[in-house]
Amino acid sequence: MEDKKSFLKEKIDIKSPNKNIVPLTTSVGSDGKLSIGGCSIEELVKKYDTPLYILDEMTLRSSCRAYKKALEKYYPGESLTIYASKANSSLFMSNLIASEGLGLDAVSEGELLTALQGGVPNEKIVFHGNNKSDKEIKFAVENNIKVIVDNDYDLERLEEISNSLNCDLEIMVRFTPGIECHTHEYIRTGSFDSKFGFGIEYLNILFTKISNTKHLKLKGLHAHIGSQIFELEPHKDLGEIMVNVILEAKKHGHDIKKLNVGGGLGIKYTENDDPPSIDEWVKTISTSVVKACRKFSLDLPILMCEPGRSIVSTAGITIYKIGASKEIPGIRTYLSVDGGMSDNPRPITYQSNYSACLVSNPYNLNSKKKYTIAGKHCESGDVLFKELELANCRTGDLICVFGTGAYNNSMSSNYNRIPRPAALLVCDGEAEIIQKRESPLDLLKYDVLPDRFIKQN
Ligand code: LLP
Repeated sequence: MEDKKSFLKEKIDIKSPNKNIVPLTTSVGSDGKLSIGGCSIEELVKKYDTPLYILDEMTLRSSCRAYKKALEKYYPGESLTIYASKANSSLFMSNLIASEGLGLDAVSEGELLTALQGGVPNEKIVFHGNNKSDKEIKFAVENNIKVIVDNDYDLERLEEISNSLNCDLEIMVRFTPGIECHTHEYIRTGSFDSKFGFGIEYLNILFTKISNTKHLKLKGLHAHIGSQIFELEPHKDLGEIMVNVILEAKKHGHDIKKLNVGGGLGIKYTENDDPPSIDEWVKTISTSVVKACRKFSLDLPILMCEPGRSIVSTAGITIYKIGASKEIPGIRTYLSVDGGMSDNPRPITYQSNYSACLVSNPYNLNSKKKYTIAGKHCESGDVLFKELELANCRTGDLICVFGTGAYNNSMSSNYNRIPRPAALLVCDGEAEIIQKRESPLDLLKYDVLPDRFIKQN
């Protein structure tokens, strides 16, 4: 019986990586085994062990370029793509983003530091967050990084800093546009009931407050309506709403030069997903902003967008080794792998679905069966796949999970004191380490036993 796994047979869309399940360089060799970036996965595992995160450089760069190219094509004004580094933050990612000329969005001192040390120029970094610490705000200002004001507390502190420095400070403000979109409620941020940003109804008061400060100069607006969005309409509406807010701000004497429309474009995790392409998404936003600006005879602002998932997710895969199996007759067969919710908390958090295959038999040739793929953590909900069709497999076989580049490594934990996996970059048949594998000993590094306990034992 031959049943080629259909997502591996699909024609790869090289222009818009988010429309593929697999990285652009995925291939199945004459030996019938899976390779990415010209590297045999089996060989990588022999050298680097499992679980293993792998990023494909070609897919990453193609995503960055697709955004840049689409903005140049559809937006006649100045523009900047800003990578939302929460999706996957590392020295390597910051460096790649800088080398592609993109900007970067950070939400903590850790992300800011990673961006700066990776080489992202400070003028291309924006600093977000609904509860920035004093230390973080100070760090951003000292490093000339644009702060996106999320609430009155941010505003008060920035006013204080600018007064004490006696110099002008450019700011942007984040507001919630009141747009609903169809995505998981935990990753919906544009509706009125959100912890992020100012309510749109409060903006007139806010604009007056900013006018009354001595040194704060409002130069930009930001909104982000949610993540993993497949519809285009909400972003079309967002463009119009934001231009209307520019007009409101103008009435208060604020000259808005920058519009940051956030991120949110979805990616294809499974065959049921059909996200718009990067080109279509950028076209929708650009057209909507340009049309609204023309209507009100406004100069075009610098248009910024802030994609995270659609830059990095499809470039990433995770490789696990199958260990124990347990058949419950008439119910299911569990296959347990050597990772799970600590390296990928998305299934247990958002009931997310992924696609996967066996590394040694990616096309599911010969007999196949439905398995439940369980993680190794002490939690019944630690299940990566409730039902996954695979060719007959056994202990020691490798499973490749696709689309794990975003919000896997960055949301990973050490639950059950499980060390984080290593991460590799693959390109043209070469693999390089971009994150060392943690060891159990590493996890003891920050534990402290007070002296009196040492004496007791
Ligand atoms: N800009 C802001 C202000 C954001 O809050 C986010 C994501 C983005 C940009 C990037 O959105 P993206 O293009 O990646 O959709 N952990 C969740 C996703 C949380 C998204 C948080 N904010 C998940 O694993 O699905």
